[in-house]
Amino acid sequence: MPSLKDSARVVKQLETLEYRVLKVFVSSIKHHEIINNHNILSYSNLHKDRVEYALENLLKLKLIFKTEKGFKLLTAGLDVFALKLLVESGIIIGIGNSLGIGKESDVVEAISEIHQRRAVKFFRIGRISFTDTKRKRSLEKNKNVNNWLLINIEAAKREYDFLIKLKSTKMNIATPYFRSMHSIVMDRINGLRLIEIRNLHNPKEIFYKVFEQIRLAYNENIINGDLSEYNILLDENNDILIIDWPQAVTLDHPNAEFLIRRDLHNVIRYFRRKFDLSIDEDLYYNSLVKK
Ligand SMILES: Nc1ncnc2c1ncn2[C@@H]1O[C@H](COP(=O)(O)OP(=O)(O)OP(=O)(O)O)[C@@H](O)[C@H]1O
Ligand SMILES: [Mg+2]
Repeated sequence: MPSLKDSARVVKQLETLEYRVLKVFVSSIKHHEIINNHNILSYSNLHKDRVEYALENLLKLKLIFKTEKGFKLLTAGLDVFALKLLVESGIIIGIGNSLGIGKESDVVEAISEIHQRRAVKFFRIGRISFTDTKRKRSLEKNKNVNNWLLINIEAAKREYDFLIKLKSTKMNIATPYFRSMHSIVMDRINGLRLIEIRNLHNPKEIFYKVFEQIRLAYNENIINGDLSEYNILLDENNDILIIDWPQAVTLDHPNAEFLIRRDLHNVIRYFRRKFDLSIDEDLYYNSLVKK
């Protein structure tokens, strides 16, 4: 897998000509996984020699891949394009250290133009072969099931839209700023995931705070659907933030009831096991659903 730091370096090296050709690949993602020379030529509107030169460089940098039928954009190519867009749009000026490597994403620190710290989440669905049957089934409905680049762009769109919606409520949400292809720029949270926390001064109070966040989302008809101690952060102000929303659903989803029960169950199980709290699941579920 390409490192985002390498991609950031490439962003600085790449010339306008190569970007123009890279853009042809990006613009074609929806329709062609593989593009032949003929199409690249006609879409780019460049002279044949210049296209060949650009393709050679993109190949050397491992941003594209050559197949029998033509060329294919690689994840590193999409990363470079997305990063370039973020810099050109004035959203970030550079990226820094990794903040986390999830099952389905790489999250890195970034600096904004006004020198504030941001987090950029790059979607990486398909990086590991997955056995999660639920996800697999929902992806199979998508005719582009093998087009991982497109699947990642769509996941970023979904999460970004949910974050924007949640941000307009009273919830504590890492402010989303921008989506660039398969990446999302948001506030960098200074905190720890519940899974990393050894001791809590008042675990019951923290549970109430988590439940309050679940309730605020639920009141907006939104269920996270993947809630656990891995996706809940406690920040430096002792506030709870729920992250990771690409799989969220609205209450009209056929599995909504199952998902909200599972979210609640996962959270309550964590507090029960780790802090020996006794929490009545049904009580909390009922207080949630009665409106
Ligand atoms: N806004 C943020 N600020 C700081 N760190 C963050 C932020 N967003 C994500 N992270 C870190 O990156 C990790 C991965 O992010 P996230 O949970 O959104 O991705 P994921 O790949 O879907 O994870 P999972 O493995 O749960 O499927 C988080 O566990 C967290 O440590
Ligand atoms: Mg996560």
